Amino acid sequence: MSNEGLVIVPIQQKVSFRRRRTVVFLGFANSRSQFLSAVILSSKEIRESILSSINEIIIRRPDDWHLHVRDGAFLNAVVPYTAKVFGRAIIMPNLTPPVITAAGASAYRDRILSSLVDGEDFEPLMTAYLTDVTDPAEIARGHENFVFTAAKLYPAGATTNSDNGVTDIANISRVLETMEKIGMPLLIHGEVTDPDIDIFDREKVFIDRTLEPTLQRFPDLKIVFEHITTKEAVDFVKEAGSQIAATITPHHLVINRNALFTGGIRPHMYCLPIAKREKHRIALRAAATSGDASFFLGTDSAPHPVSDKESSCGCAGIFNAPSALEIYAQVFDEEGSLDLLECFASLNGPAFYGLPVNDGSITLQRGDRPRDPCLSVGHEEIMPFEMEKPVGWKIVA
Ligand code: NCD
Ligand code: ZN
Repeated sequence: MSNEGLVIVPIQQKVSFRRRRTVVFLGFANSRSQFLSAVILSSKEIRESILSSINEIIIRRPDDWHLHVRDGAFLNAVVPYTAKVFGRAIIMPNLTPPVITAAGASAYRDRILSSLVDGEDFEPLMTAYLTDVTDPAEIARGHENFVFTAAKLYPAGATTNSDNGVTDIANISRVLETMEKIGMPLLIHGEVTDPDIDIFDREKVFIDRTLEPTLQRFPDLKIVFEHITTKEAVDFVKEAGSQIAATITPHHLVINRNALFTGGIRPHMYCLPIAKREKHRIALRAAATSGDASFFLGTDSAPHPVSDKESSCGCAGIFNAPSALEIYAQVFDEEGSLDLLECFASLNGPAFYGLPVNDGSITLQRGDRPRDPCLSVGHEEIMPFEMEKPVGWKIVA
């Protein structure tokens, strides 16, 4: 008799009796979770049938490993959306001017903490913006003093506020050597800036021209390939071993490049790296929902004033913080992998960064989520990311 036969029967009965209120506890070390997880993982058919009938899930409090919160009034308007759901977030340093010193990052962290309205238990994890002239000693000092969690490589000109970025990775060799030595992760916006390369190929070309040689040259450097958008990136990360991991945004899991042109030009669907063809979206969904520890949550929520988005030269960035976790939950549900949402959202990231997982939990329930209103910030507005149909999961606690 197989193991499956031994465990399925009682659970099938239990689920059929309580179908409308089935709750699965994931990731908590109590006997109930171990029992249910064992059953859920025991057979593909049963697993899918049980998962599709689940109406509520409780996961350990997640983290956002890639977030833009800006500064000033925008900061105060957007941070609460993240802080009420996520325990920590890796804060991107691409302000104007960028965050390049430990003192600057520490002051920025204080401003973020002051923006918390309801005393949320939220920890901003700060990053250093690398330039051609970054001093390795400043990066090392900032890391040693628990100010910098990681450093960010923007190829100069690759994206929003990246003009002060790195023009050639050779210019930061000494910084990378130092980071490798002290175990500080390097976060990479992985796109070439060569105007001769088609915008849809820039991530793929970056892998060959820059990423692969960097991994070879610094074999102990921990790298996060940020907001990946292509099948090539998925395959590369899967095969490259534990030195490298990747974040995946909610929007790249639910839109492909057609969304930029549905019935006209759609500036609120424009971000960098730009959404790619459907086959890439499918590869991203498979990677995110696979449970593979190399992939974890990073929203890349990037608010901009509507006036900058709806312009003759609209800027890149999608503000998804209000509904990010719910969109991920919907994707995992659609892919029959709800039991792996917690790995992606709450476990894989801390494991890669060598940090403890969060205390506390978030409860999500099946059901249409109300749409988010536009945010008014002074005279400006910020438009939250929105799909055609309402998101089918809501956070309830
Ligand atoms: C980000 C921003 O607006 O700061 N924009 C984006 O399209 N993702 C920068 C970035 O992460 O590329
Ligand atoms: Zn970003």
